[in-house]
Amino acid sequence: MRRSPVPVAVALLLTGHLSAVSRAADPPKPPVKMTAQEDHKRMLELLKIKEIRRGADGNPKSANAANLDESKANPYPDLPDPLVMKDGTKVTAALWAKRRAEIIEDFDREVYGRVPKNTPKVKWEVTATEKQTVGDVPVVAKKLVGHVDNSAYPLVTVDIQLTLTTPADAKGPVPVIMEFGFNFGGKGPAPKAGGPPSWQQQVLAKGWGYAIITPTSVQADNGAGLTTGIIGLCNRGQPRAVDDWGALRAWAWGASRALDHFETDPAVDAKRVGIEGLSRYGKAAIVTMAYDERFAIGFIGSSGAGGAKLHRRDYGEKVENVAGTGEYHWMAGNYIKYAGPLTAKDLPVDAHELVALCAPRPVLISVGSLQVEGGWIDARGMFMAGVAAEPVYKLLGKKGLGTSEFPAQETALTDGEIAFRQHAGGHTTGPNWPTFLKFADRYLKEPAAPKPPTADK
Ligand code: GCU
Repeated sequence: MRRSPVPVAVALLLTGHLSAVSRAADPPKPPVKMTAQEDHKRMLELLKIKEIRRGADGNPKSANAANLDESKANPYPDLPDPLVMKDGTKVTAALWAKRRAEIIEDFDREVYGRVPKNTPKVKWEVTATEKQTVGDVPVVAKKLVGHVDNSAYPLVTVDIQLTLTTPADAKGPVPVIMEFGFNFGGKGPAPKAGGPPSWQQQVLAKGWGYAIITPTSVQADNGAGLTTGIIGLCNRGQPRAVDDWGALRAWAWGASRALDHFETDPAVDAKRVGIEGLSRYGKAAIVTMAYDERFAIGFIGSSGAGGAKLHRRDYGEKVENVAGTGEYHWMAGNYIKYAGPLTAKDLPVDAHELVALCAPRPVLISVGSLQVEGGWIDARGMFMAGVAAEPVYKLLGKKGLGTSEFPAQETALTDGEIAFRQHAGGHTTGPNWPTFLKFADRYLKEPAAPKPPTADK
């Protein structure tokens, strides 16, 4: 005898499946709203820590003023050795790729956070193409928007803002220097009449192009924004886990997506793309270089704490500052641990290994004058990271800084693939552009040679 069919809803109800079905059809929950303070506190709870030590104060008159006494700047002088594997094996050139992966795992987990395995696709749209002149060079200026696929969580929209400017009369694909821009604008600042040429003009004078990406269009520059932007989109509006990526990795991810696009643009030689940034975007620039080996060269401006400066230094800004409510969003939540109860010496990696991840590719570490820019950035702490990265460059057949002696201001060290220059100005990369472009010329002048065919496959 045939049983009378039970209506599906009733059957589901009977078997307890209805709630699951209706849950799946529920509209997605809006992004969690929290202030940076609230999210920071939540992170401390996840990490099971009560409080962190307070950071140094930028005001020299403060009782808690940042240390500017070099004799007290190295409380933890021993750095992790980039050339020893976790199991104690000495790293040879053949082992470097394995060691590199170990170092990346430590940076991912403890410092910058992990990029999710499946980040959404980005569809680039050219929203404007204009013929312009920059200085006296005719250019093609494109405005682009990178639409991030948000079909998995439509409540967060991410549209990456990018401009690309290339010489109009280029004979073929050109090298491009991309900047993490503080402002979105296709044309860049108008050069002052009679003043020195802008960085964009200097780049164009070489026959190269330039690009400006707006980092905050990828991820907001504050803790409250962590449930939106690309990080929030990937977490469907929920707050971060302790090893989720922070803004620096998110900004670097955006730069990598821009490079994906350049690979499809016949005006650009994507094998000759450099990345530049200042300050928090100097940090983003070195993180970009370190992680994405397609970038050919890096110009790392006054990146300081969380950038090229050794975390183990106590000079100017320190770990405790970066771990605080105003800056922790740059990093993985786990990084906060090193501001209490742990200290910088407990970090499994340090900034010299971030520089080493750039090897064998060239990087210029740039900083301003101690008198004008001040000590917050810690020029020497970044120089020391460059010095300690040298063994890795040498292992790969390249040259490092070639000295451990801090150079006089305006003395460029550019003989090797790790370069350094302290200019006489303030918090800017400005005065170091001519040095960078001369340095970059060595690497970007000729198109990259095609890879020799590999026999073993
Ligand atoms: C603050 C911060 C630095 C950062 C800088 C900037 O000074 O402490 O780490 O580099 O802002 O981005 O301008």
